[in-house]
Amino acid sequence: MRTILVLNSKGGSGKTTIATNLAAHYAKRGDKVALVDMDPQGSSSDWLYFRPEDRPPIIGIEGWNGAYRLPRSLDVAVIDAPAGVHGDELAALVKRAQTLLMPVLPSPIDIRAAERFVEELNLLPAVNRGAIRLGTVINRARENSPGRIILEDYLRHVRLENGRRLPYVGVLRGSQNYLNAAERGLGIFEVAPSATAHDVELWQPILRWLHSKRALPAK
Ligand SMILES: Nc1ncnc2c1ncn2[C@@H]1O[C@H](COP(=O)(O)OP(=O)(O)OP(=O)(O)O)[C@@H](O)[C@H]1O
Ligand SMILES: [Mg+2]
Repeated sequence: MRTILVLNSKGGSGKTTIATNLAAHYAKRGDKVALVDMDPQGSSSDWLYFRPEDRPPIIGIEGWNGAYRLPRSLDVAVIDAPAGVHGDELAALVKRAQTLLMPVLPSPIDIRAAERFVEELNLLPAVNRGAIRLGTVINRARENSPGRIILEDYLRHVRLENGRRLPYVGVLRGSQNYLNAAERGLGIFEVAPSATAHDVELWQPILRWLHSKRALPAK
């Protein structure tokens, strides 16, 4: 089973947007997908509540109460983390996933918070051993904005303390399309392509990375 954790301790960075869109992507491919909502705010569970019955199904799991079980024969579990996860809670989340996707907004406050969070991730044994693979995504980017340029420069150069790169795997733009799709319980891949073609294109490097061995821990 593929386990993908969407995590950044910073609130509002796009975790739920990315987790729900990823779940929709895998469901559309025909995979048996669970969306595990670790956030008591329940935002990804809300999204799933509005998902039309005629769309590829996604199993919703409310994981915020602690122990949760993944159904057997699942192909993919996408885990939507809450904001502000640190310490033991962070270690427990990271331990259960093969891949961590970290969205970062191109704002000075978010960049500083991301730098601190990477330092915290470095302290985790699972990260240090390479038992989980990390990738970063810029979310809500604007073409050539100063914040984006500074963030790209940081993400291109940052390394983990174990010497591994922390690959920067893609850039998503800010787009009303995400809100329109989310309102209907859909991913960006599931709505009229005329409006969303550019957003779908921006997802491709992220999906390629996630589907590749580079996003999987060595056996
Ligand atoms: N690429 C995007 N384009 C437009 N709006 C976006 C995009 N990404 C996120 N948003 C909007 O920004 C807000 C925060 O996004 P989201 O809820 O995905 O972040 P989060 O990291 O899950 O937040 P929290 O930390 O509260 O769980 C939401 O209103 C969402 O619709
Ligand atoms: Mg969220």
